[in-house]
Amino acid sequence: MHILNVNKIDVFYEKLKALHDVSLKIDKGECVALIGSNGSGKTTLMNTIIGILRPESGTITFEGKRIEGYPPYRITELGIALAPEVRAIFPYMSVMDHLLLGAQSSRKAWNDRYDTLERVFQLFPRLKERKSQRAGTLSGGESQMLNIARALMSKPKLLLLDEPSLGLAPKLVLDIFSALQKLREEKMTILLAEQYVRHALNLSDRAYVIENGRIVKEGFGKILLADDDIRRKYLGA
Ligand SMILES: Nc1ncnc2c1ncn2[C@@H]1O[C@H](COP(=O)(O)OP(=O)(O)OP(=O)(O)O)[C@@H](O)[C@H]1O
Ligand SMILES: [Mg+2]
Repeated sequence: MHILNVNKIDVFYEKLKALHDVSLKIDKGECVALIGSNGSGKTTLMNTIIGILRPESGTITFEGKRIEGYPPYRITELGIALAPEVRAIFPYMSVMDHLLLGAQSSRKAWNDRYDTLERVFQLFPRLKERKSQRAGTLSGGESQMLNIARALMSKPKLLLLDEPSLGLAPKLVLDIFSALQKLREEKMTILLAEQYVRHALNLSDRAYVIENGRIVKEGFGKILLADDDIRRKYLGA
């Protein structure tokens, strides 16, 4: 059974239709990439899955349960976490406070918070070094690590990553991708929106290509890497 099943959703901003009949499935343990250029609808889809936006039609099923229309806190409690594109960092709160905030999603996440912290610090040793520091003093790369780490603190069964490489220098992009590789090895289920298409396709099992709010292609990452259309549009070949 699929852990997530997005079935034919339409999403609007007022009169603007941002997602057209979008369907997407994720199996447990899979890493699925969502590829698309600026304004194609990646964030809209992420925000709809997590419950910030509500589909006008269609369904979203998580572990067999219909979740469309649920508020974000309930969806997070059920086991989905979003590391958002715009990193909500509170400048005067410490790194540790941010992480503990991430563990507020459910009683289970809170009870397990010290174990989860160990795991998160293994993944991002920089955050361990900076745990008492004010988050406003973190570099761009470190803020992104905190953004992902906070999502992990809720012990998600499905992790949504909205352009984790956004605004980062190439070296830091590689650091983020190597952390994602480790999450893959731990069998974390991931939906990854990215414009670093080559990295994303290499990391993922499967991918969906979104253009103007429509899924126009899907397939295995390795196969899409060799696809002429993808190479021309997204890989500069
Ligand atoms: N709050 C909003 N109000 C109205 N239109 C919006 C809003 N947010 C996004 N849109 C529009 O919806 C479409 C999809 O935007 P979205 O942010 O989902 O794209 P994206 O793929 O995440 O782009 P990017 O790669 O730049 O983050 C775009 O046409 C955008 O202008
Ligand atoms: Mg976006």
